Amino acid sequence: MDCELDIPSRVIIGADTRLRVAQEVRNLEWSRVLIVSDPFHEETERIKEIAQLLSKADLKVSTYTGVTDEPDTEMVGRGFQQFQADKCDGTVALGGGSVIDTAKTISVLARNEDVYENLMGIDNVARLGAGVIALPTTSGTGSEASKVVVISDLQSRIKMTGRSRAYVPSVAILDYKLTMSMPKSLTAAVGIDALTHAMEAYVSRQACDFTDLLALSAVKLIWSSIRQAWYNSTDENARQNMLIGSFQAGIAFSNASVGLVHSMSEPIGACFHVPHGLSNAMLLPAVTKFSVDGAPSRYAAIARCVDLADDSTPDEECCRILVNELHQLIRELEIPSPKSFGIDKNSYEVNIEKMANDASVAGSTGNNPVIPTVDQIKDIYCCSYDS
Ligand SMILES: NC(=O)c1ccc[n+]([C@@H]2O[C@H](COP(=O)([O-])OP(=O)(O)OC[C@H]3O[C@@H](n4cnc5c(N)ncnc54)[C@H](O)[C@@H]3O)[C@@H](O)[C@H]2O)c1
Ligand SMILES: [Fe+2]
Repeated sequence: MDCELDIPSRVIIGADTRLRVAQEVRNLEWSRVLIVSDPFHEETERIKEIAQLLSKADLKVSTYTGVTDEPDTEMVGRGFQQFQADKCDGTVALGGGSVIDTAKTISVLARNEDVYENLMGIDNVARLGAGVIALPTTSGTGSEASKVVVISDLQSRIKMTGRSRAYVPSVAILDYKLTMSMPKSLTAAVGIDALTHAMEAYVSRQACDFTDLLALSAVKLIWSSIRQAWYNSTDENARQNMLIGSFQAGIAFSNASVGLVHSMSEPIGACFHVPHGLSNAMLLPAVTKFSVDGAPSRYAAIARCVDLADDSTPDEECCRILVNELHQLIRELEIPSPKSFGIDKNSYEVNIEKMANDASVAGSTGNNPVIPTVDQIKDIYCCSYDS
């Protein structure tokens, strides 16, 4: 299959590599930088550390910490105003997917005077952005690797997705030390998001040999380390594996697409304010069970690559084992169901119709191994409520 890839042009990996941020800004010939971050990182000394490194290199720094939640058009708009007012020429994103998506959208707005709606969708952005150096602090969304942004529209309550080359960060700095402060619940949710990216990219109808390589490598890294990172937050090897795994998964899904888990997860997030990683985790086992018939050999390869089975195990049996193990992993990492998250049953049922309709027209649904009917999507929502 033909393959077209958009990936960051520079990737720096290792402990304390965040300390090299000023040199990266200089390489890009920026002189005024907008640091985009969130209130959590304002409280820790992390933003101050990055700002000092930049100032010491004679760079002008402005800091925007208005990413208080998963980003919406207003949050991005305020950051963009600051970018313009302070005459910045590039952004440094320090945070999780919310911060990185905000910085990527500010960067694109800076070079494309257009309304958000026109910058969302597939390949709609005319010019490359001002540029982003991404320092992910969760592992994660893979946003530091991807050409994707997810921004909520405040009016319609819909999460808009933009997918364009212009959203690929200029530089990704993968310093696992930035992820070590993640609490257990965040480690679990973002880790399952990364696993979902890798699995969905591998079984996607848009997968190619190159994305396959990265997707399977990511599955292995994440599967072998997610429990260690969760049980022992200071396990440096596990933290590094999770960050590299989520980066690889980010390249894989950004170029091969995600699938039905993501299509169904975004309406749950939009209706009930469930964080992205968590809503994926709530759906991953049930959607996998539904999808295996469309690509049994691919799901079997996933099971075999993490040693749940070997070549002597028939594909069908591999798929059954994989679904069971996903349920087990999600229970072990104490990920709540929609019910135990506190979503009222009545309200969930009332919204199923809208959520299923939104999921059925989402861009990634058509790349799932089995393309579902609206009724099948409703069934998956129903059986995921309390499982
Ligand atoms: N662009 C993409 O390719 C892509 C892919 C998947 C998801 N997303 C989007 O990313 C967003 C979710 O990002 P996320 O899951 O990384 O979470 P997040 O960025 O929303 O962060 C969640 C919370 O964790 C805190 N946090 C971040 N790093 C921390 C650390 N090291 N220690 C302690 N707390 C920390 C944040 O302050 C925040 O309160 C959603 O909006 C989702 O739609 C984007
Ligand atoms: Fe995701």
